[in-house]
Amino acid sequence: MRYKKLGHTGLEVSSLCLGTMAFGRWIDEEASISILDTALAQGINFIDTANYYGKGQDTAVPYGTGESEAILGRALKGRRDQVVLATKVGIRTGHGNNDSGLSRTHIMREVENSLRRLQTDYIDLYQVHIFDPNTPLEETLQTLDDLVHQGKVRYIGCSNYAAWQIAKSHGISEKLNLQKFISVQPQYNLLSREIEQEMLPFCQSEGVGVMVYSPMARGMLSGKYKSHEDVPPESRAAHGEKLLKNYFTARNFSLVEQYRAIAERHEVSLSQFALSWVLNQPAVTSAIIGASKLHHVTEAVEISDWAWPADLIKEVNQADVE
Ligand SMILES: NC(=O)c1ccc[n+]([C@@H]2O[C@H](COP(=O)([O-])OP(=O)(O)OC[C@H]3O[C@@H](n4cnc5c(N)ncnc54)[C@H](OP(=O)(O)O)[C@@H]3O)[C@@H](O)[C@H]2O)c1
Repeated sequence: MRYKKLGHTGLEVSSLCLGTMAFGRWIDEEASISILDTALAQGINFIDTANYYGKGQDTAVPYGTGESEAILGRALKGRRDQVVLATKVGIRTGHGNNDSGLSRTHIMREVENSLRRLQTDYIDLYQVHIFDPNTPLEETLQTLDDLVHQGKVRYIGCSNYAAWQIAKSHGISEKLNLQKFISVQPQYNLLSREIEQEMLPFCQSEGVGVMVYSPMARGMLSGKYKSHEDVPPESRAAHGEKLLKNYFTARNFSLVEQYRAIAERHEVSLSQFALSWVLNQPAVTSAIIGASKLHHVTEAVEISDWAWPADLIKEVNQADVE
């Protein structure tokens, strides 16, 4: 396992980050804990969750229950300090006016809820889940700065922000002498490469850590889906995950087959190929893997140190333009 500094900080994180969106949503507590234990035993020290992850996401009233955080809190008792724990705030957690977004009121309430569920008195990386156009950035950044000074949060990061939104936030932090976002969490995989245009060059230039989510396109890049109708049982598509279905396009089904052929030539599985492509991008600090079975973790760890030759990167880029 390789470890890197997260952005311009002294914090060292593994190149694989364990995503826990499945915990308490698609898999039960026992399965979640065995995935967590396997990840820690294999050297993963970085864990991503959110106040929103849990069962509620799949119900008619889609408010997260925080079950993922609660499972982690129980499972990490006595070994909390061995991990870098990242969580998030901002997505709707109830139907009240102040039950979402990045206002002072919502963040202050939600950080307490996260700390209680996680059974800890500090969060290593507290991330805003999504940009909130209805709250002044000054209010959000001042609140996050207060949490750092109170010792409840060690670093702050953002997720799903555009490069200009981080640049604007950094400008405000500098002007008001507040904590700056040290990392960003965007989507990035072989089928979804938008962040190469603005985000990755911006992060490299400014020393912002990049922890990317959905490196396997929510499972599409495992090659298990052949068409809209052909969905294996016990998969996320079978559980009805809507965002995964957005990947089910003719372009993507065709690209998956091209990548499968390249992966076979290199004698690795398509899943491992897709993950290691992400890990070979110089701007990426960590890839957040979503595991619902133990072998997802072990296969990810197995491939995590594979350094790609330059001609392989070229071959992949060629497949994408054809
Ligand atoms: N900030 C945000 O807005 C945001 C959004 C999404 C995710 N995230 C974070 O990123 C994490 C990862 O996202 P993700 O779950 O979408 O990541 P992903 O790695 O793209 O997808 C994970 C899925 O791929 C399949 N998979 C993984 N390894 C496999 C293997 N070796 N063989 C076959 N299939 C394999 C599994 O599907 P099956 O379960 O169907 O077997 C697994 O659930 C989340 O847990 C969360 O922490 C953040």
